[in-house]
Amino acid sequence: MSRILVTGGSGRLGRSVVAGLAQAGHHVISVDRDAVPAELLPAGVVQETADLLAPGEALRLLREATPDAVVHLAAIAVPFSAPEDVIFATNTRLAFAVISAATELGVPKVVTASSPTVLGYGCPAGWLPPSFPLDERTPPKPWNAYALSKHIAEQTVEMFAAAQGEKIRYAAFRPCFVISPEEWEGAPTQQGHTLAERLADPALSAPALFNYVDARDVADFLDLLLRKMDSIPNGETFFVGAADALATAPLAELMPKFLPGSEALSSGLTGTSPAFSIAKAQALLGWQPKRSWRTELKSTLNDEATALVTAGGGGKETP
Ligand SMILES: NC(=O)c1ccc[n+]([C@@H]2O[C@H](COP(=O)([O-])OP(=O)(O)OC[C@H]3O[C@@H](n4cnc5c(N)ncnc54)[C@H](O)[C@@H]3O)[C@@H](O)[C@H]2O)c1
Repeated sequence: MSRILVTGGSGRLGRSVVAGLAQAGHHVISVDRDAVPAELLPAGVVQETADLLAPGEALRLLREATPDAVVHLAAIAVPFSAPEDVIFATNTRLAFAVISAATELGVPKVVTASSPTVLGYGCPAGWLPPSFPLDERTPPKPWNAYALSKHIAEQTVEMFAAAQGEKIRYAAFRPCFVISPEEWEGAPTQQGHTLAERLADPALSAPALFNYVDARDVADFLDLLLRKMDSIPNGETFFVGAADALATAPLAELMPKFLPGSEALSSGLTGTSPAFSIAKAQALLGWQPKRSWRTELKSTLNDEATALVTAGGGGKETP
């Protein structure tokens, strides 16, 4: 059991990460500007309400918590949800404040959330990758302040790993479009629509190249990463996604409709193959996502949602 401080622990992803790490036997300290109502806080989790950008706050909280590991999630998590300069300044300053404070105090393991958007898909001036599936070797080409801030968060991890050598272990991870447990039940996703609507209309999932991940699988990933960080190379970045695509048709068919010029590139994305490879996390950590929309949505689909998904082209395939 470790003491783990999670920043952004009240957020969409943070709530599942806090719960998952606590369930895995860790002592979790959740730090966020916003508090989770006490009755919804998992047993044993300590909650601290603070603005991590206030001078000295990150250092104070970490000094008091004396964690074995920090998982940094706090950020403005949606591109263009605030002015570009605000997103850039908030996210880069948060990442630097938390990672540098953890380093100063000698916290042994430091992990930060990045984003697949660092790759640059959705760029209005056009974007095509060198190949599919996308993986950690695909060159980042951020085109907005959110993606750039996440690219800098990854570079912040690399910088501290370079400076510290093996003394402190660092990693970054790129969670795909996060789906929290309540969203399987019909709550609106980060983009304001439901999952059934997202599946029924490929145009809604296409901007993220049909990626997604269950928030509880991210918690499992983090538990495994923290346990294995001592035995993998320092400063690594990982994609964390589902093993399939959030689509009812193969991406070899769908991708060219939304990503002009990708016919040949995406021709290998047959069956349920996602556009983002999770092979690195599988190979280095032995991580495997346990949930898929095919398993999670099935039990909660109401008649209306079933009709929507079926109208969207299927929903009956097996993984
Ligand atoms: N949700 C996704 O699909 C997704 C995908 C890729 C990456 N990410 C990244 O994962 C992380 C978590 O995302 P999320 O969806 O849970 O976002 P979220 O907005 O639900 O949660 C972020 C949390 O950070 C907190 N926070 C922001 N500024 C703070 C500050 N100054 N001090 C203290 N707390 C502060 C907020 O109060 C919020 O609870 C983010 O770094 C995000 O960029 C999310």
